[in-house]
Amino acid sequence: MSMIKIEARNNEFLDSDEDSLYHLGLKKTPQRLHQLQEMFGGVKYVCMGGSPERAMTFGNKAAVELGIPKSEGGIQAIGKTERCHMFVVGPILSISHGMGMPSLSIFLHEVTKLLDYSGCTDVKFIRIGTSGGVGVEGGTVVITENAINAKLEPTHTKTMLGEDHTFPTQLNGPLALDLLAASEGIETVIGNTMGTDDFYEGQGRRDGALKPPYSIQDRMEFLQKIHDQAGVRNIEMESTEFAAFCNRAGIPGAIVCVALLNRLKGDQVEASPEQLTQYSDNAQTVVINFIRKHLGR
Ligand code: URA
Repeated sequence: MSMIKIEARNNEFLDSDEDSLYHLGLKKTPQRLHQLQEMFGGVKYVCMGGSPERAMTFGNKAAVELGIPKSEGGIQAIGKTERCHMFVVGPILSISHGMGMPSLSIFLHEVTKLLDYSGCTDVKFIRIGTSGGVGVEGGTVVITENAINAKLEPTHTKTMLGEDHTFPTQLNGPLALDLLAASEGIETVIGNTMGTDDFYEGQGRRDGALKPPYSIQDRMEFLQKIHDQAGVRNIEMESTEFAAFCNRAGIPGAIVCVALLNRLKGDQVEASPEQLTQYSDNAQTVVINFIRKHLGR
């Protein structure tokens, strides 16, 4: 029986006895099912971000701030660590998903299957990421209202068996507002997020290795247009895949990304390592504040 209540659940496959969650390095078998349920059954918040280091920092920070006991050397990664780092801290599963939509998609599928097998209920997915701000300065946290693709449509298209399938990218509005209300002094805005397939030309940068087929003026006009007319406040590489998946699965999803720079002012990320650590901490703190409130602590 599915407890997580996946809307478009793949019953035909998920009800079989065995499944190899290959990229997580975990397996469902009749013998191991109980162990998975013990480890993951209490998960309520899946917090995902690109970098393995940030997944660990977030897990350790959540443990400290929410008063969840952890072992002396800090939290330990579960499964194999070749493709991602995954930690469980009380009701939080913190996992890295790599850069871009293809690797994110793999972890969305495998984590959702894992939670389904573990009998989880009432789970929320929150992506905690980094982004290029549009009209917002480095360090500002942007909570996504609508995820839109690189053509400014609120959809995500995947090619399957040679055919395009397009899915809506609507996110959970109340969850976004609850996260906004948890910003507690951290500069936070709500706005649309453009999800692209690329960091350089896909985001209109002019500092890649290849001569871009657009001018400085084209770049500036486009960024100003998406800010003024499409309400875009940041650009990253995962939002549309994430939103389309959560939407299809019927799982409440939210995206909380810090801006590393203001793209209306430049292309290069020039913040110092200390500033970057502080920026990433801003987004994590908003999410931890939300979880604390949500748990009633
Ligand atoms: N991540 C992105 O995808 N774009 C940026 O500009 C910064 C971080």
